[in-house]
Amino acid sequence: MDLYRALRPLIFRLDPETAHNLAFRLGAVACALPVLPKPTHAASLRRTAFGLDFPTPLGLAAGLDKGATLLPLWKSLGFGHVEIGTVTPRPQPGNPRPRLFRFPEVGLILNRMGFNSEGAEVVAARLRHRPAGLIVGGNLGKNKETPEAGALDDYRAAYRLIAPQVDYTALNVSSPNTPGLRNLQAPEALKPLLAGMLDLRREMGLERQPLLLKLAPDLAPEDLDAIVEVAVASGISGLIATNTTLDRGVVAGALRTLVESKGAGGLSGEPLKAKARDVRRRILAALRGRLPLVACGGLGTAEDVQGALDDGAALAQIYSALIFEGPALISRIHQGLR
Ligand SMILES: Cc1cc2nc3c(=O)[nH]c(=O)nc-3n(C[C@H](O)[C@H](O)[C@H](O)COP(=O)(O)O)c2cc1C
Repeated sequence: MDLYRALRPLIFRLDPETAHNLAFRLGAVACALPVLPKPTHAASLRRTAFGLDFPTPLGLAAGLDKGATLLPLWKSLGFGHVEIGTVTPRPQPGNPRPRLFRFPEVGLILNRMGFNSEGAEVVAARLRHRPAGLIVGGNLGKNKETPEAGALDDYRAAYRLIAPQVDYTALNVSSPNTPGLRNLQAPEALKPLLAGMLDLRREMGLERQPLLLKLAPDLAPEDLDAIVEVAVASGISGLIATNTTLDRGVVAGALRTLVESKGAGGLSGEPLKAKARDVRRRILAALRGRLPLVACGGLGTAEDVQGALDDGAALAQIYSALIFEGPALISRIHQGLR
């Protein structure tokens, strides 16, 4: 029996953020157990991407474990990698509540969390006790009050603390919930940002540690092509696509009105699937194999993940589907992967 599915009606009666906090408290209890079940992965699931060896292509997308508090649990559940964060250099509370909404009828999440973060110092200290055998990525952002002109300094401050504790880093320039953040995706803003980060990586002697860039699904096709060229020329290690969408057109009819009534935020889950897939295909075509791509956005079944890998993605990440399906989804996906 799938306990999560059985309890879902009760869980979903709670306010989403209350349910999240409760699940994390239970998860912390599980992490404190003397032994957690060890995951087993078929050897055929192994793959190498940007120089790292992954036991499986499936990972947990950024934003669920922002503070790296449940890493032993994610490992035990079978994820090959976990992207922690987004971590901002200084602590910040994020947006006022309510800021998280779920629409189970269509597997949709709306969030405007706004980078609630304990700050890089606290998260880096926690990462010093991370479990072995799990690839951990550090997803980095800037503080809300930092003006766009100071963005590079913020990403560098977070990088200095987080990068020494993780296997790869990802620059989040695609959250819709920090005003102006997505402007950093424009080639003229992206070039100095990536150059500044790669300089710091070299200064810190971390040139062999992959640095990725996470993109939004709301970019025009020509803009995607230009961004790909900037990314390849810069020398970064890969791309993650996609983050949440601002496009309310991914939901139709009465539900759209309901979603719109909840206000600002990014949409994720099943309704994002087609849009994220189209964006990824455009990026993969423009990349022509020059950099690896991590698929994210609307993936919810083994077929979705397999499809993304068959399209040419190196790895795949999930978030929303895990909320709706529960932890058993991870082994279901693994069973269905070739
Ligand atoms: C509640 C919530 C919070 C998120 N927070 C972050 C974040 O802090 N940083 C980030 O890069 N992406 C964040 N994301 C985006 C996810 O990592 C992912 O890109 C997006 O949800 C699409 O994948 P999905 O359809 O499988 O959920 C968040 C998503 C949700 C639903």
